[in-house]
Amino acid sequence: MPMGLAQLILSRKGFGHLPSVTFNSKPPLTDYSPSLSCALIYPESMAKLTVNDIEVNGKRVFVRVDYNVPMEEKDGEMVINDETRIKATIPTLDLLIEKGAKIILTAHLGRPKGERVPSMSLRPVAAKLSDIICRPVAFVDECIGETVENTVGQMQPGDIVLLENVRYHKEEEANDADFAESLAKVADVYVNDAFGAAHRAHASTAGVANIVKSRGGQSAAGLLMERELKFLGEELEEPARPFVVILGGAKVSDKIKVIDRLLEKADTILIGGAMAYTFKLAQGYTVGTSLVEKDKVNVAQQALDKASEKGVKFLLPTDNTVTESAKVDGKWTFKNERNNPDVNIPDGVEGVDIGPETAKTYSDECAAAKTVLWNGPMGIFEDPRFAVGTFAVADAVAGATKNGATSIIGGGDSVKAINKSGLGDQVTFMSTGGGASLEFLEGKELPGVAALSDQ
Ligand code: 3PG
Repeated sequence: MPMGLAQLILSRKGFGHLPSVTFNSKPPLTDYSPSLSCALIYPESMAKLTVNDIEVNGKRVFVRVDYNVPMEEKDGEMVINDETRIKATIPTLDLLIEKGAKIILTAHLGRPKGERVPSMSLRPVAAKLSDIICRPVAFVDECIGETVENTVGQMQPGDIVLLENVRYHKEEEANDADFAESLAKVADVYVNDAFGAAHRAHASTAGVANIVKSRGGQSAAGLLMERELKFLGEELEEPARPFVVILGGAKVSDKIKVIDRLLEKADTILIGGAMAYTFKLAQGYTVGTSLVEKDKVNVAQQALDKASEKGVKFLLPTDNTVTESAKVDGKWTFKNERNNPDVNIPDGVEGVDIGPETAKTYSDECAAAKTVLWNGPMGIFEDPRFAVGTFAVADAVAGATKNGATSIIGGGDSVKAINKSGLGDQVTFMSTGGGASLEFLEGKELPGVAALSDQ
């Protein structure tokens, strides 16, 4: 075995060499639908190359994925809590295997800021991916350098290698040109399937794509990327109507750009979560001790004015679950939770969920929708006492989907919420992005997409 391979760590399947993969074992079915065959349009008029369009037989395909998965330490080992993002890349990997590519996966995990933080190693992800895809996945504990190059030099078509956390090098986030060149040494073709990281202009998301293009090679979107851009982009450009948007979450400031853009498209916007209280303040209602952004009341008022100008139905909660909250030993505690059946919230209590009347109104609006976009929970759904409104909305979105509506869950907490409600498989599309989904919905260009080859 060459010296370079001494540091190669294979997944727990126990292969002592880089396996030459055959195609006699069909990978398991996943809950991700196959790619849509349409050309990828981003933004409206710019078509990008996708993995369907490229010839990769025998080539080294450098694939950026978003394997930034939640992990926790159990008995001294890092354990993956949610494998959604790993599963979401399987269609792209299956296609590349079928096309005879040598697959070099690169990803980040957490924010190690250029340090080799052991708890942020991608090693457990290699083992998990191997389990899911039913193939060996080699892991290299570096992302650049001789070991990587030697390992890749021995790959056969269909082999998969996962490189160590690219953010162990501070040059990644700086999109350092030399670092991007080092990554690109093992890339004949570049594929970006990391929608969740596409809002970052980093070496592995944008730098390598540009280098491959500058050498006359191809940089293409993966199938997950294609689906994300289709559902969060194209589908919402000309949505089937009525188009109902449900927005929640803590802060108006986090969502105001999305609200502003959606006011151009939506028929109805339903507001929940703590940001509703800032809107209530703007309308002159009382909010008790609810979380508000006083300095954003004018921004909320502008959105309300725009809604009325555009004729968009813009609904706020008419009742709320309220509690008496206090911080004890640095931790929030809630007691005496009850329904407050009034649009005003009295002194001394905090709104923590939408109430039953609001849940019914919002559910009725969803039932009439042909397109639903949901981003952000209706209350503090992590506490079962305050999850009722969020789960009612999840139920209504699933019901609308059953009746033929297209439902799109815009990433982050709303995905967590719908999965917690057990209805995650009853919606049309769930985004794997957090910040990326929001920025895309705001209408921003994503550097990881912009860097890909045009069709
Ligand atoms: C995410 O989890 O939203 C993505 O992986 C991006 O991670 P980042 O915010 O650390 O860049």
